Amino acid sequence: MNKEWDFEEFKKKFREKTSLDLDSYKQRQMERRIRQMITREGCTGFQDFFQWLDTDQEALNKFLTYLTINTSGFFRDEHVYENLKKNVLPELLQKFKDINIWSAGCSNGEEPYTVAIILEELNAHNRASILAGDFDQKALERAREGKYSWRQVEKVPTALLGKCFNKEGDWYYIKDRYKNMVTYRQQDLLKPLHGLQTMHLILCRNVFIYFKTEIQEEVINRFVNLMPLGGYLVIGCAEYISEAHRFGLERKYSAIYRKK
Ligand SMILES: C[S@@+](CC[C@H](N)C(=O)[O-])C[C@H]1O[C@@H](n2cnc3c(N)ncnc32)[C@H](O)[C@@H]1O
Repeated sequence: MNKEWDFEEFKKKFREKTSLDLDSYKQRQMERRIRQMITREGCTGFQDFFQWLDTDQEALNKFLTYLTINTSGFFRDEHVYENLKKNVLPELLQKFKDINIWSAGCSNGEEPYTVAIILEELNAHNRASILAGDFDQKALERAREGKYSWRQVEKVPTALLGKCFNKEGDWYYIKDRYKNMVTYRQQDLLKPLHGLQTMHLILCRNVFIYFKTEIQEEVINRFVNLMPLGGYLVIGCAEYISEAHRFGLERKYSAIYRKK
C-alpha cells in the first residue's frame, strides 16, 4: 500500500505543478493553514487534497486565493499614505525628472490605485509610472476590473470618493484615468524578476510577513538593487526590517525606508 503523503511530498508535487515554492513561506503557519483547508473541504489528507487541486482548476484557484490572503484596502494605514503624499513623493519628484513606482504584491489593486490618486492630487500623474504585480491571477483580474465594495473603499476621504469612483448600486468602480496609470503584471517575488527598470519607490506591504527570514532578506536586497540612492521602500505596518543599514537603508518614517 502507498504511504500517505506528508507535507514535504505535497510541497514537492505542488511546486512541480504550479512552480510556486511553498518552502519559502513560514512553515508552521503554512502547514496549519493548509491542514485547515483540507479538513474544511472534506479531503482525507495531503494526497487526496493534491489530487483535487490537480484535476479541478477552480479548486486550485480557490486554494491560491486562500493561501495568498488578498486582504487590502484603499488608504490602508492612512498615516503611511499621508507621509507618501507630504514627504516622500514631493522629495522624489523634486529630485528626479520622472519616477517609477512598483507595488509588489498589489492584490486587488487598492494599493497602486491609492498611489495613483495621490499622484493626481499632487498634480504629478504625468511624471510617474506605476507597475503593480502579484502572483495571484484572480487578484490581478479584480485589480484590472477595478470594482470595489464599501469595505474596500471606506478609508478613502469623502471628497475623493466621488471624484475617483463611479458608484453603481453597492459597487465603487475606480475611474479610467487612474486605471490608465497602472500596468499590471503577474510576478512571483520568490523568483528573480527580469526586465525591471530603476524603481524610485517600491511598496511591498503585508507580503513578506509570510516569507521566511532569509527569503525576506533576499527580496529586500533585490528591491534595494533596483532603487537609486534616495529611493524609498515601503513595507507593512506589522513588518520591520531589522538592522536596515545592512541593506543600505535608513528608516525615515513609520514603515518607510530610504536608500542611503
Ligand atoms: C495581504 S495582501 C497585501 C496587499 C497590499 N500590498 C496591501 O498591503 O494592502 C498580500 C499579497 O501578496 C501576494 N503574494 C504573496 N506571495 C507572493 C509572491 N511570492 N509573489 C507575488 N505576490 C505574492 C498575495 O497574492 C497577496 O495578494
